[in-house]
Amino acid sequence: MTDQAFDAFIVEETADGQYRGSVKNARIQDLPEGDVLIRVRHSSLNFKDALSISGNKGITQNYPHTPGIDAAGIVEKSNTPGVAPGNPVIVTSYDLGMNTAGGFGQYIRVPKDWVVPLPDGLTLEESMILGTAGFTAAMSVEKIADIPKNAGPVLVTGATGGVGSMAVAILAKLGYTVTAVSGKSETDFLSQLGASEIINRQAFVEGNKAPVLKARWAGVIDTVGGDILATAIKSTRAWGKVTCCGLVASPDLPITVFPFILRGVSLHGIDSQHYPRELRLALWKKLAHDWKPDNLGEMATHISLDQLNPAIENMLKGRLKGRTVVDLT
Ligand SMILES: NC(=O)c1ccc[n+]([C@@H]2O[C@H](COP(=O)([O-])OP(=O)(O)OC[C@H]3O[C@@H](n4cnc5c(N)ncnc54)[C@H](OP(=O)(O)O)[C@@H]3O)[C@@H](O)[C@H]2O)c1
Repeated sequence: MTDQAFDAFIVEETADGQYRGSVKNARIQDLPEGDVLIRVRHSSLNFKDALSISGNKGITQNYPHTPGIDAAGIVEKSNTPGVAPGNPVIVTSYDLGMNTAGGFGQYIRVPKDWVVPLPDGLTLEESMILGTAGFTAAMSVEKIADIPKNAGPVLVTGATGGVGSMAVAILAKLGYTVTAVSGKSETDFLSQLGASEIINRQAFVEGNKAPVLKARWAGVIDTVGGDILATAIKSTRAWGKVTCCGLVASPDLPITVFPFILRGVSLHGIDSQHYPRELRLALWKKLAHDWKPDNLGEMATHISLDQLNPAIENMLKGRLKGRTVVDLT
């Protein structure tokens, strides 16, 4: 069993300092020590995977490496009470796929605290359509969920991306009026998710130089940072709430303190990696029931391990739409 070979998408550093991933044989005995061995059925593609695969040392320090920050599968071996062989489980966040061999391999071995039992109401495949992106969207929604539904529209940026599309769908399901900011012409996709207004990304930031702008949003879920987040904060209504989780546009935030001291706007950071376990289990339950997007199946494209390279290239160019599930069966 321990020397059993399995397929994994392994990224290697080449002699010329480039990073390339390809499907190779890995062995169970070479996986890191851990309490639970899991046969991975599905993973999914997240922006952090694209960075790990590109050799970003802030994410992954040592190569060869198997990325994949998400995994869903069946427990094969366990030394942990309550986690038995045959159980369906989810692993997202922590160090999976960063400096621990991740879900782009058919097996992972992880500490018991990383393992989340698959909640009733979700299939393994659905859990990976959600994945870290859906979980991060849910954490963001949770931060602003005390905003009354009639307080005004909630803005979502990077709206066709993984986190953005999930945020639009969850907010719409909860009854919020959603405005989407997108760089793509994907009106039908965003409307089907539940966006009632769509603003072009370029138009959104035009003429945004004043320290505060016309107050429009009761809440904001930002996934891109930079000028777009700054514009969103400056156009948030009095006592509105803004969440910030990503940096695909820029890690900078060119803004003054005025929206905070003149309108009482609050800015909330989102960090899915260190979210406490008890809260994590509770949020997965919400995602399996009341917060589960109605159109989950339509939000995903399915690929195999050998289709990862073009998918990653598209993600880095901001071209992907919705979620990409990686099937490992
Ligand atoms: N803090 C956390 O715990 C956490 C967890 C998950 C993800 N994240 C971060 O959240 C961000 C989004 O992740 P994701 O998985 O949703 O990525 P994704 O699927 O690649 O989506 C990103 C979206 O951002 C928009 N975009 C792309 N390039 C842009 C640019 N130059 N300027 C403005 N918008 C741009 C695009 O949407 P449109 O074309 O519709 O505008 C794109 O689809 C990433 O930075 C990721 O690292 C953080």
